[in-house]
Amino acid sequence: MATNGTTRTVTIRLQRFNPDVDKKPVMKEYTLEITSDTTILDALEQIKATQDGSLTFRRSCRHAICGSCAMNVNGRNTLVCNQRVNAHLDRKGAVTVRPLPYLPIIKDMVVDRTSFWEQYQRVKPWLVPPDDVPEKEFRMTPEEVAALNDAEKCIMCGACYSACTVTAVNKRYIGPHALLKASLRVLDPRDTITNERLIEISGNDGVFRCHTIFNCIDACPKKLNPTQAIETLRKLAQKREAFVAARKERQKSL
Ligand code: FES
Repeated sequence: MATNGTTRTVTIRLQRFNPDVDKKPVMKEYTLEITSDTTILDALEQIKATQDGSLTFRRSCRHAICGSCAMNVNGRNTLVCNQRVNAHLDRKGAVTVRPLPYLPIIKDMVVDRTSFWEQYQRVKPWLVPPDDVPEKEFRMTPEEVAALNDAEKCIMCGACYSACTVTAVNKRYIGPHALLKASLRVLDPRDTITNERLIEISGNDGVFRCHTIFNCIDACPKKLNPTQAIETLRKLAQKREAFVAARKERQKSL
């Protein structure tokens, strides 16, 4: 590894795969100059612009908001737009980037997220409010609002889904991302299909499939806790009837 003032020469090791020509993925190394501010996404852009225009990856916002740049860096899922190369270099000055694991590769870092979005749709991630919408606003307590906060910050990047060892072998499993979003709706006192939601998430492919090994927490770039959401849903599913009755009472005072 050579250093030169504020820049240094590093190796970016990338998994490449073009299904039109390759039988299986191969690792390729690229040497480039970076500064202390160069992010992994910057490095990919630089490689694409100066060394190999066929390198394919997703990105959009560059600010850890859109969730499209999730990849696997040195064995760990993360967003690459807010990760500096320097922070991930090994002793030889190299960093290894692969696509999100356990998902079909379309090309290079681009994976097929169909199962991810199908499971998201399955939990009906939208609010189903009562017919009687108040003239001004729904009145919720600060505690009720705070309970929703965690799930609302999820940017649907797929890092947790792809780190989950249950989804790795069973694409029918709803998955940590969708269960986190399901918890957002189940805990929302305005929602009216709580019973239906709890039945869906407690079925064969739901919360009781989770092995509670916390990979989703490790992978989440927003430091959210899908495991906790799953645990909450498990408890609510077990006392579903009482919870649904309490929800109906609560809605009278919204
Ligand atoms: S480019 Fe949008 S989260 Fe990274």
